[in-house]
Amino acid sequence: MNIILLGAPGAGKGTQASFLKNQYEIPQISTGDMLRAAVKNNTKLGIKAKEFMDKGELVPDSLIIALVELRVKHDDCINGFLLDGFPRTIPQAEALAAAGLKIDIVIEINVPDEKIIERLSGRRVHPTSGRIYHIKYNPPKKDGVDDETGDPLITRSDDVAETIIKRLKNYHEQTEPLIQYYKNFPGSNKPIFVFIDGTKSPQTINQELQLQLK
Ligand code: AP5
Ligand code: MG
Repeated sequence: MNIILLGAPGAGKGTQASFLKNQYEIPQISTGDMLRAAVKNNTKLGIKAKEFMDKGELVPDSLIIALVELRVKHDDCINGFLLDGFPRTIPQAEALAAAGLKIDIVIEINVPDEKIIERLSGRRVHPTSGRIYHIKYNPPKKDGVDDETGDPLITRSDDVAETIIKRLKNYHEQTEPLIQYYKNFPGSNKPIFVFIDGTKSPQTINQELQLQLK
């Protein structure tokens, strides 16, 4: 099963992916996590990507498409994959189709803009595992540390109000058109489109998703 998770920054793509990857035994491919790892390791890609990510802009299609095309060839994708944060533009979606990768399900997690700033400014992450917390909605057992490892949690450098507003603007301009793209996908490879109200609790959303994916 090949699944795409679509949604604004902070809509809960990563949170839902962490449930779905275990439930469907397919890997979560988060382009944001892959880019952050490249930045941390100071690779050529990381150095280029950082300047865009820090400004809340999308990394150029040419960099990200090659990264995903390589990743989906890994052995762990044999039964499918869960794309979290890709595609983000029409050319990225066209590249997936041109590479012959059939998408079975597109999930749109919808959250109004006014809720996003609170979600992202309260987010804390465990950078090594990608585990996601929220100081109010999903707090760690002990303040500021990861439940499983006890490592300190961090705030993502792009989770500041000014950058969040730019990310939201870019989402509406560049990524939202993918909703119509997949709803109107021509031919027999048209994916199933699932709309989810992302303002409910993470557990309720996951239950609704599981019902719709049956
Ligand atoms: P990326 O890491 O993908 O960031 P994003 O799309 O902005 O999304 P987020 O990870 O911020 O949010 P999310 O939807 O995963 O929400 P989460 O589950 O964490 O990309 C970062 C950057 O990399 C981009 O800006 C761009 O520069 C670059 N990039 C990445 N992919 C690219 C691509 N394909 N092309 C070009 N550039 C690319 O939840 C958020 C918070 O809310 C958490 O604290 C969580 O605990 C809480 N929460 C989640 N669900 C709920 C709920 N139901 N109720 C209450 N709180 C909730
Ligand atoms: Mg995410």
